[in-house]
This record gives sequence, C-alpha cells and structure tokens, in this order.
Amino acid sequence: MNILFMGPPGAGKGTQAERIVESFGVPHISTGDAFRLAMKEGTALGQEAKKFVDQGLLVPDEVTNGIVKDRLSLADCDMGFLLDGFPRTLAQAEALDEILAALGKKIDHVVNLKVDRDRLLARLTGRRICRTCGATYHVLFNPPKVEGVCDKDGGALYQRSDDTEEKVGTRLDEYTSKTAPLLAYYEGKGLLREVDGEKDIDAVTADISSLLRG
Ligand code: AP5
Ligand code: ZN
Repeated sequence: MNILFMGPPGAGKGTQAERIVESFGVPHISTGDAFRLAMKEGTALGQEAKKFVDQGLLVPDEVTNGIVKDRLSLADCDMGFLLDGFPRTLAQAEALDEILAALGKKIDHVVNLKVDRDRLLARLTGRRICRTCGATYHVLFNPPKVEGVCDKDGGALYQRSDDTEEKVGTRLDEYTSKTAPLLAYYEGKGLLREVDGEKDIDAVTADISSLLRG
C-alpha cells in the first residue's frame, strides 16, 4: 500500500507514521528526517538544507524531489511506502506523479490529519525527540516515564531547533500558503482521506488503521 501523510507542522504525522509502518510493514520516508540526518552528518545536502530548515522555510523543490526519487527507487518500496512530509508544494506533487508513473506505482491513500492552528504551537514547543532512535514525545501529552529519557532505549531527549515559537509561526505560514492548496489537488483525484488529528494519539492511530484497512 502506498500512503501519503499530510497535515500542518505538529499535526502528528511523525507520531502516527511510526505506528502505522509497524503494523503495515512498509518503510517510513520522511523528508524532514532525511534533512535532519544530512544536517547532523554535515554533508553537502545537509549544509544546503540547513539554510532553509533553520529558518522554518521549505527547502527548494529540486533538492527535495531528488531525495524522494532516489528513495522510492529502492527495492524495499516495492511492497509499499509511507511518505511523511512530501509533497509540500504543487510542483512536488507533480514531480511525485512523474516519479511514480516511471516506477509503475500509484498512490492509494492521502491521509490528512486535521488539527486547529492554536493547538499546533503547544504541540510543537513541547515536543522532545530521542537522540538515539528518533522516537517522539511531548512534555505534557506524551511524556516519557523518566523526564528527558527515552522509554525505549534510555537515549537523551532533545528539542528541535525549529520548534521555537518564532520558527513555528514561519512554518505554519509556509504550510498555509504552499502546502494546504494540495488538499484540493488530491481531493480532485479522489484520494483524500480526512482524519480528526485532535483526538488522543491511540484514537487517531485506530482511525487511520481502520480507514487504511477499508
Ligand atoms: P518535518 O520534519 O516534516 O516537519 P513538519 O511537517 O513541520 O512536521 P513536524 O515533524 O513538525 O510535525 P508532525 O506532524 O510530524 O508532528 P509530531 O508527530 O512530531 O519538516 C521539517 C523541515 O524540513 C521543514 O520546515 C522544511 O524546512 C524541511 N522539509 C521537510 N520536508 C520538506 C519538503 N517536502 N519540501 C521542502 N522542505 C521540506 O507531533 C508533534 C507533537 O505533538 C509531538 O510532541 C507529539 O508527541 C504530539 N502529538 C502528536 N499527536 C498528538 C495527539 N493526537 N494529541 C496530543 N499530542 C500529540
Ligand atoms: Zn530512543
């Protein structure tokens, strides 16, 4: 099954993707994670991405499309994939259509997590991530058992550099102007599945699972 996760920053895409890929056995492809890894490793891609990610701006389409094309061509995507955070512009959506057509694949479901803008700020500023395994927590809504420590592997938790109030404002504006219009694009293709992302984490997982299982 080939799935896209859409929704504004903080809607819960990463949190739900971690759970859905476990039950559906498909790879989780997050362009945000790919950029953060490249930035950590200091590669040429990372240095280019950092100029945009650190300001809360979208990375240029030509950089982003290349990463996705390479990743979707790997053999583990033959059984399906979950794309999280891509596409985010109309040009990326059109590039994705071309990449998939060349690979003889198509999108089955576009899952849109709907959350009000007011809630997103609280979710993002309280988010913490494990340095070792990348698991996502929230200081209030999904706290680890021991403060600052990952439940799964004891890794230290950190805050993303773009999760400050100021950067979150820019990210939400980028979403509204460039990404939100894509919902109409996928609705027109009959692929859009709306999910209430304001329910608690387990309830959202249950709703997504049941819609994917049809
Ligand atoms: P990316 O990493 O994709 O960030 P994002 O879209 O801004 O999304 P987030 O990761 O912030 O949020 P999420 O929806 O995954 O929420 P999460 O599950 O963590 O992109 C980062 C940057 O990379 C971009 O700004 C851009 O610069 C660049 N980039 C990436 N892709 C790009 C592209 N295609 N084109 C160009 N540039 C690109 O949840 C958030 C918090 O809420 C967590 O603490 C979680 O525990 C909590 N939470 C989750 N669900 C619930 C719930 N149901 N109830 C209560 N709390 C919840
Ligand atoms: Zn961990």
